[in-house]
Amino acid sequence: MALQLSTEYTGETFPSQADLRKLAKQAGDALQALENGTGAGAQMRGWLHHANGFLQSAEYKRIVETANELRKTTQALLVIGIGGSYLGARAVIEAVRSQYANQLPGAYPVFFAGNTMSAAEYANIGALLEGKDFAINIISKSGQTLEPAVAFRHFYAKLRANCGGDAAQIRRRVVVTTDSETGDLLAQAKANDWKRFVVPGDIGGRFSVLSAVGLLPIACAGVDIAQLLGGAAAAEEAYTSAGAKLEENPCLYYAALRYYYYAIECKSVELFAFYEPSMAMFGEWLKQLFGESEGKEKKGLFPASVVFCTDLHSLGQYVQDGERILFETVVGFQNDPNNITVEIDDPGDPLYFVQGKQISDINATICRATSMAHAAGDCPTLMLQADARDAVSIGWLIYFFEKACAVSGYMIGVNPFDQPGIESYKNNMYALLGKAGKQYDKIRAALQDAYQI
Ligand code: PA5
Repeated sequence: MALQLSTEYTGETFPSQADLRKLAKQAGDALQALENGTGAGAQMRGWLHHANGFLQSAEYKRIVETANELRKTTQALLVIGIGGSYLGARAVIEAVRSQYANQLPGAYPVFFAGNTMSAAEYANIGALLEGKDFAINIISKSGQTLEPAVAFRHFYAKLRANCGGDAAQIRRRVVVTTDSETGDLLAQAKANDWKRFVVPGDIGGRFSVLSAVGLLPIACAGVDIAQLLGGAAAAEEAYTSAGAKLEENPCLYYAALRYYYYAIECKSVELFAFYEPSMAMFGEWLKQLFGESEGKEKKGLFPASVVFCTDLHSLGQYVQDGERILFETVVGFQNDPNNITVEIDDPGDPLYFVQGKQISDINATICRATSMAHAAGDCPTLMLQADARDAVSIGWLIYFFEKACAVSGYMIGVNPFDQPGIESYKNNMYALLGKAGKQYDKIRAALQDAYQI
């Protein structure tokens, strides 16, 4: 497996040789800070050299055993988590197995809850679980996040009823993934003697997909997690050092180019584009990875995502012709195992020009045609091509983007591993929901004053 980065469709908007030399130095320095642990948030780099060691670990073996056991003894898994505690797992399952993974013949369905406070979604998930002997994997690093904590209480009550309240039966169906030392969830898990997996202290939520956080649900869905970790380990080996030229390290080159578009060309949005609908959730994972890592101190590219051709007929107009604030990063695959050919018998059919062509070749042609049009319209397009949409390539892509994201954060001068901004909504939410505590009383009073409530 190798990931190709092509700059063929960047049009006029490309750094000069002098710019490239400067960018190489900046990106190289950022990479060095990351590798040496001299950058901000260095204690959160547990993901950086993780995959190989984890493959040999007892925790890895326990994940495989637990997944096999759950698949054998229950009919579905409900994953409860939000943000980094669910996006990676869902992205990988859909990318490798397809967005229809749960409906495929013989599938062991994996559902996701706790990432919304929509009552309709509670009801929908409840309906999907109706009559099923399901297990729960509750995932929360902090063990305190409100959305998954509420969902857990709701669905745990159903699971307990399914088990007739039998503690031993419940224990076989509840798995907790949380911090090893602190949090309400840890206390609850200990009190009930539930099976536990650890969110490593040195890996933040959005970088945690290749730990137990992502691997247990992914293995339950039938994806080969050894291959996934193998792809990440190979990528780690490929992107460790800065070469004399940026092209020698595509991960660094990508980070440098996205910095160039942001800082020099004033493009404020990176549009991740996929030509495979099953990659839509991978786009959501990327949005969290880059959005939470870079978006701080009034800085950072805004990450957006599209699935083409679908979105060519909705957002395509804006991308081509709207405000020139976008550059595009296409994530595609060289090989598609599906041999599906267009068959048109009538030479008089106006579509006869596509007769005999492979659907996947038409898709690739549309990708090229679109990228050419976008480049000509001052939306430079970076093209990333992996081998195939399989576990190895997805593991590789995960590592590639995590590392590029950390380097990018250092290039714009922020700590890519914290997320102080999300506390603001949480504080207001707790205050308005009536959580006890002096700090919430104060916020509640201020909000009541400002909004006359
Ligand atoms: O990347 C992050 O740290 C966040 O997105 C968290 O994953 C998210 O807020 C959920 O937190 P927790 O796992 O503590 O419930």
